[in-house]
Amino acid sequence: MPAVIDTLREEHRNMSRLLDVLEHQIDVFAVAGDPDFDIVRGTADYFLEYPQLCHHPKEDVIFRRLKERCPHDVAALPNLESEHREINERAGRLHETITALLEETDIARDLVVNTARIFIEAERRHMTMEEDQFFPLAEDRLTAEDWSQIASDFDEARDPLFGDRVETEFSTLSEKLLRWEEEERGH
Ligand SMILES: [Fe+2]
Ligand SMILES: [Fe+2]
Repeated sequence: MPAVIDTLREEHRNMSRLLDVLEHQIDVFAVAGDPDFDIVRGTADYFLEYPQLCHHPKEDVIFRRLKERCPHDVAALPNLESEHREINERAGRLHETITALLEETDIARDLVVNTARIFIEAERRHMTMEEDQFFPLAEDRLTAEDWSQIASDFDEARDPLFGDRVETEFSTLSEKLLRWEEEERGH
């Protein structure tokens, strides 16, 4: 498996962990409980910025190369670049809604819950499509030369939550994510 596909799959696993912890908090909030706002705010901040800095650009480079190699097969896939734009917009809406909630603007609980659930579902659907269709097609059709070209096209951005070092901005989220996962495993 090309190293970059490995990295992308690992990034999906990390994003899935964040979606799970966010979903748990939204489920609490949906039944009138108090969510952990560090987690809700942290995940919204992360999704607002980092997938489009650290993750989507790599997939876009692969997608464009694949389009040159096998346009007919790529035509059968959803348009990855426009899905990324939609996801960014959804992440923007999630962030706005969470910000309004934290600023205690009069915002309906249902709106927050629905916005978050739509975002979570769309992210999961997109990642599943990539893992089931896009990655296997890329692995099958691209050559070693393509992969080395792709790797040299990357302008690698640092991931502040799942990278080598957790940035201060995300240290609380990182700790709480690990703690929650530990608790879940204990159940
Ligand atoms: Fe993607
Ligand atoms: Fe992805």
